[in-house]
Amino acid sequence: MRVLVFDSAELAARRVAGEVLAALREKPDLVLGLATGSTPIGVYAELIRAHRTEGIDFSRVRTFNLDEYLDLPATHEQSYRHFMDRYLFSGINVPPSQIHFPPSEGSDLLERCREYEEDIRRTGGIDIQILGIGSNGHIGFNEPTSSLASRTRVKTLTDKTLRDNSRFYRGGEEPPQLACTMGIGTILEAKKVILQAFGAKKADAVRAAVEGPVSSFCPGSALQLHPDVSFCLDHESASKLSLREYHRRVLENEERLRHRL
Ligand code: PGA
Repeated sequence: MRVLVFDSAELAARRVAGEVLAALREKPDLVLGLATGSTPIGVYAELIRAHRTEGIDFSRVRTFNLDEYLDLPATHEQSYRHFMDRYLFSGINVPPSQIHFPPSEGSDLLERCREYEEDIRRTGGIDIQILGIGSNGHIGFNEPTSSLASRTRVKTLTDKTLRDNSRFYRGGEEPPQLACTMGIGTILEAKKVILQAFGAKKADAVRAAVEGPVSSFCPGSALQLHPDVSFCLDHESASKLSLREYHRRVLENEERLRHRL
């Protein structure tokens, strides 16, 4: 587990985007797992900048989003499809046929969730999974007490998540209570996981995920089981970590040993 603490969210976003672009140079048909929310917006802005100013090609990239609200039309401005179109897909040249979302409307949802997993598998698996973390420790919409082995399925959102999300809904409109999300088991199969968290509101969740016991009560803690996971933090979200100084030395040594590893 790598814990990187940056002076700002912008610097973290630049670093994470740099990792994605480096992977894309190695593998033009990269498979990306994507997250929504305020946290990844900086990374997406950097990817758009790279496409526009350096001509970076996304035409062979495949994307799989983590989650989507149930029964919110793709045209609704709070749907995650709408969010992704606005903050990433409209600014890069990934073909719509290579963009995937979990099922969010209609019936046969469980069967279509299984198909979503199968679609991921058929690509050879997710190369890089971009993640945020909820203030309650959720990853995707895997709320506290989600099975650590869970797969893509429908979840009921907790009151905490509904409260966190209510800021996006105007005029008494209720946020959806149900969502379809990749499971924790699905996320753990990504080859590389990069979780970003910014601000003091995330400090408890970050501490529980990085230093707490592995527990379904903090789904982010399941990432301790992943062999290639980075937590990219700012000083506020890292403020409750007891080993902050140690993590800084780990990175220093990693840099020093780079040419020998
Ligand atoms: P945020 O949400 O990026 O808007 O903070 C993260 C999450 O709930 O996973």
